[in-house]
Amino acid sequence: LEIYGERRASFGPNIFVESQWLPFKSAIDSHLHKTWSATSIINGKAVDTYEVDRQTNQLDKQTVLAPWNHEVSAGEVTYANAEVARQAIDVAVAGQDVWKNVPAAKRAEILRKIAELYEENYAELMALCQVEAGKTMQDGIDEIKEAVDFCRFYADEAERLDDVVHEFTDLAGKQSRQVYKARGTFVCISPWNFPLAIYTGQIVAALAAGNTVVAKPAEQTSLVAHFGAQLMYQAGIPAEALQLVIGAGDVGGALTAADNIAGVIFTGSTQTAQRINQSLNDHAQASGELPVFIAETGGQNAMIVDSTALPEQVVRDAVLSAFGSAGQRCSACRILCVQEEMADDLIELLQGNMAELSVGNPLYAATDVGPVIDADAKHGLEAHIERMSAEPTATILAQTPMSSSSVVSQEKSTFVLPTAIEVKSIDVIGGEHFGPILHVLRYQARDLNKLIDAINNTGFGLTLGIHSRIENTVEHIERRAFVGNTYINRNQIGAVVNVQPFGGCGLSGTGPKAGGPHYVARLMQLSSETVNA
Ligand code: SER
Repeated sequence: LEIYGERRASFGPNIFVESQWLPFKSAIDSHLHKTWSATSIINGKAVDTYEVDRQTNQLDKQTVLAPWNHEVSAGEVTYANAEVARQAIDVAVAGQDVWKNVPAAKRAEILRKIAELYEENYAELMALCQVEAGKTMQDGIDEIKEAVDFCRFYADEAERLDDVVHEFTDLAGKQSRQVYKARGTFVCISPWNFPLAIYTGQIVAALAAGNTVVAKPAEQTSLVAHFGAQLMYQAGIPAEALQLVIGAGDVGGALTAADNIAGVIFTGSTQTAQRINQSLNDHAQASGELPVFIAETGGQNAMIVDSTALPEQVVRDAVLSAFGSAGQRCSACRILCVQEEMADDLIELLQGNMAELSVGNPLYAATDVGPVIDADAKHGLEAHIERMSAEPTATILAQTPMSSSSVVSQEKSTFVLPTAIEVKSIDVIGGEHFGPILHVLRYQARDLNKLIDAINNTGFGLTLGIHSRIENTVEHIERRAFVGNTYINRNQIGAVVNVQPFGGCGLSGTGPKAGGPHYVARLMQLSSETVNA
């Protein structure tokens, strides 16, 4: 605890000294008072000018309010309807020939240009991420960096897969070969928690494969997505290849019900993924073809800590994993499982560390934890904290107050205070709570297998943290756990493209990992041809 008393223990200032932000900050500030707008883009035209039957299809406009201050407006969004969605699909399907015939090297060049334009426009992208999504400075920078990494990595993948030709010869000398080809049109449905990174990653992966795309970003972060799409067109993505549909779930439903799409890439809740899967199955029964479905969904992620772990490191990693990005990462640590022998000490350190977190206005460089995305999210998370306060087997261990230097109104914003809750079992938590809430669970060393099984029994399998200095223990946990990404003796968030390919199993996702070597390949089909020479 003394260590944490002497210096700031929270994660922001440990990474960057505030003065290092200043040159970035003034560039970003110059964009903060802009008013952005977003509307669907079909065949290169804003949907306002596209031919929509205005009699029957009213397009809905809404003002976007900053989650940290509802008196700040970020801009205005025009939501599309199902008819616009259907038009977007038709244009993308018709555009397939244009894009798939662009050589892979050219497609890669355009994707690299997107990366360059994102870097050149980082200040405006940061401002948008901060105003619309409530991202802290660190999260905004990480967001842009990941988006840029996706562009460059999937550009490399487009070229690599274009060079992959498997050749076969049979005894009679017949030549066969297998090559990768584009599949068709993909619907990309992306989440608000990574409004640029995952949005861009999905789109550029599908484009890298030679597919055309209809993108439907989360309605909460349409402004970021709209600006990103403009930069993609500016980089050279043809109007036929990328359609942007701005809207809510009804519009997503219309897109995934289309009977001429090759697949869907989705990141969001497990429930929505299940609905999309059902819709695709229904469609397959009608058309005979089962579209590809890539889903990255939720997690009930645990960090298992045994008594050989280094307590200071554990606490630092757990706090970053649980409260970084206001806990709004699917990878976030939700359950800190601590071996009984070190639990009391660790909880004390955790309380000390959480007291040092700075919660407030995300525009301040010193802020560690910003707001959650909207009022629905806030109410759901606070209801969980209330339920846990009343639960006889749960104890609130710590709750970080709003930072006194952060001038925000609790009523006109959507902050949820970082909260640690000790629980006696995983069951009492009741599913994933997507925000800054960390549950702490003590376990006895002899019950390690039961603990791993209980984690597996949640049905999720996204990230797992392990803190132990005993190799056998680490290996044992790894073998028994059913999980997509394991992090040993470090935090469990922030997978880096082409370093930690990311994605889960079970209720957490369908397989091919974003930022890994199988992702773009999954969006292509392997075609075999035999020549009777
Ligand atoms: N890819 C993110 C992470 O690793 C989560 O979506 O934190």
